[in-house]
Amino acid sequence: MAQPLAKGLAGRPENHGSAKVQRPWIEPAVTAVVFGLFVLYSLWEVLFHANGVYGSYVSPFFSPQVGRWLGMRNFIAIPVVWIPLFFRGTCYYYRKEYNRAWFWHPSSCAATEPSGRRYTGESRFPFSWTNLHRYFWYLAVIVLAFLWKDTISAFFFHQGFAVRLGSLLMLANAIFLTLYTFSCHAFRHLVGGGKDCNSCMLGAQAGQPTTSYRMWTRVSRWNQRHGGWAWASLISVWVVDLYIRLLIMGVIHDVRFF
Ligand code: FES
Repeated sequence: MAQPLAKGLAGRPENHGSAKVQRPWIEPAVTAVVFGLFVLYSLWEVLFHANGVYGSYVSPFFSPQVGRWLGMRNFIAIPVVWIPLFFRGTCYYYRKEYNRAWFWHPSSCAATEPSGRRYTGESRFPFSWTNLHRYFWYLAVIVLAFLWKDTISAFFFHQGFAVRLGSLLMLANAIFLTLYTFSCHAFRHLVGGGKDCNSCMLGAQAGQPTTSYRMWTRVSRWNQRHGGWAWASLISVWVVDLYIRLLIMGVIHDVRFF
C-alpha cells in the first residue's frame, strides 16, 4: 500500500537529512509556482502588447510574425504563441510537477490520490489532452527554426554586423530551446522508431544495434538532462522577452560589445 510507505520513509531516522524525502512537495511546488508566473507573464505580454520587435530583435513570444503577415493590429502573437505554450504545458517534465503540485494527481509516487478519486494516469479527461504533446513537438520545431532565423538577424544592424547584449541573449535562448526540444521524450520515441521497448528490440537482434537504436540511445542521454533544459529555456525565453520589452519601453539601452 502506497500511503504507509510514504509515512514509513519520512519517519526513518536515516532519512532526516534528505529534504527530498521529507518534503517531496518542494520541487513540484516551486516548479508549479514559477511555471504559473511564467504563464501569467506570457498572457500579459501577448494580450496587452501589439509589438514585440525592437530593431533587429524579435521577442520569442512574437515569432514567427504570422499575426503581422495577416495584417492583424492587436493580439498579433496569438496565432503562434499557443504552440510553445501548449508544447511546454504538455511536456512530461512539467506534467509530473504540476500534476503533483496543482492537482495532487497524486502528490508523489508513494502517495495515494485524495479521497474519492481514483488514479487513472493520463487516460481520462482532462489529463488525457496532454497526450497531444507529440504533435505539438512537430509544430514547436517549426517555431524553433524561425527563432534561429531571428537569432542570426539579431547580429545584423543598420551599421552591419555587431555583437550586442540582446544578440547574445537571443543566441543563448535559441541554444537552450534547441536542447530542450531535442531532449524531448516524444523526439526520443520518434527516433527510436515509435517502439514501446527499444532495449527489447536490441535483445531480439542478438546485440546488433540499429541506427535507430543508436539514435535512441543518444537522445536518451540528452533526455536525462531534460528537466534542466526545461528550466534553462523557460528562464531564457522570459529574460529575452523582458529585455526586448524594456528596450521598446525605453527603460534600458542595448549594450554593444563590438
Ligand atoms: S517531454 Fe518535455 S518537451 Fe517533450
